[in-house]
Amino acid sequence: MNNIYSKIISTGSYLPDKVLTNYDLEKIVDTSHDWIFERTGINQRHIAKNNESSVDMAYHASLNCIERSGISIDEIDMIVVATTTPERVFPSSAVLLQNKLKIENSFAFDINAACTGFIFALDLADKYIKSKSVSNVLVVGTEKMSSLIDWKDRNTCVLFGDGAGAAILSASDDPGIISSTIGSNGSYKDLLTVNPDSDFIEMKGNDVFKIAVNTMGKLAKETLTSNNLSIDQIDWLIPHQANSRIINAIAKKLSLSDDKIIMTVGDHGNTSAASIPLAMDHAYINGSLKQDDMILFEAFGAGFTWGSTLLKF
Ligand code: ACO
Repeated sequence: MNNIYSKIISTGSYLPDKVLTNYDLEKIVDTSHDWIFERTGINQRHIAKNNESSVDMAYHASLNCIERSGISIDEIDMIVVATTTPERVFPSSAVLLQNKLKIENSFAFDINAACTGFIFALDLADKYIKSKSVSNVLVVGTEKMSSLIDWKDRNTCVLFGDGAGAAILSASDDPGIISSTIGSNGSYKDLLTVNPDSDFIEMKGNDVFKIAVNTMGKLAKETLTSNNLSIDQIDWLIPHQANSRIINAIAKKLSLSDDKIIMTVGDHGNTSAASIPLAMDHAYINGSLKQDDMILFEAFGAGFTWGSTLLKF
């Protein structure tokens, strides 16, 4: 009997129109373009309108993705939305998205694994497909990080942005997702958190930086080893887009050349669960990703949570 794989058949993304540059931020807090760019690689971020929710952004990214997929909305039988910034406590963002897209033949639910959310959502979707419970899954990462930002806190307000990215995973005989690893450790809960009193992000930036680099470096090596692959066999690393220095430090640990890394953090900052699908869609649109490319996704986020997905595109 043939193996069943989950294959990404299309991607989509959405960024709000409003752009906030580092120079704009200079007028709001005591910071400078040079400080932000040198420490993070970020030039600008997109900010959603007051009345634009994470579900609205997910809707635009999903429409884009469904149009390119060649399947009809009736064929989507599962929707998973990864977000830390849901429009409402309930119903879930996935159910609100299902309603906006007028998808009837599916079940829908949210997951929250902070910046690793998209990897956790892919892991779930892959398992549902491999168990033959479903055939086509809409997987979305969407975040309105600006709703969690204290615009007076220069330590955090320069880092994040809003946006959404989507992918459709379909059952296939051809290799798609080859391996998926997810993990978490709640003992780090206070290093990166939304303070329940203020509802704003708080972070010990230095500690997060070091643990992110070590965890993602180790995870990438373990993923390659357990799949009997060398780094030369990877066509693209699409890492969580938090900070170019984190990404470069991981690449150095892996001896991976810069021309194999998709880096979009400069244009949209850290969009948490949306960052990997946004980067993937960008790379698809500009022609970098080709069919059958071997791709490694990697992410790290609050919790801490972490995960990797190895796939053939
Ligand atoms: N502009 C100017 N100065 C600033 C700013 C700013 N926006 N923010 C902080 N500073 C100051 C600090 O107050 C400090 O001043 P002091 O020495 O007088 O106290 C000085 O700059 C150095 O601060 P550090 O925190 O040591 O700066 P560092 O070099 O570590 O860079 C940064 C900070 C960019 C946050 C870095 O630690 C980092 O990238 N950490 C990872 C955090 C991250 O990406 N989190 C996202 C979520 S997790 C994830 O997605 C992987």
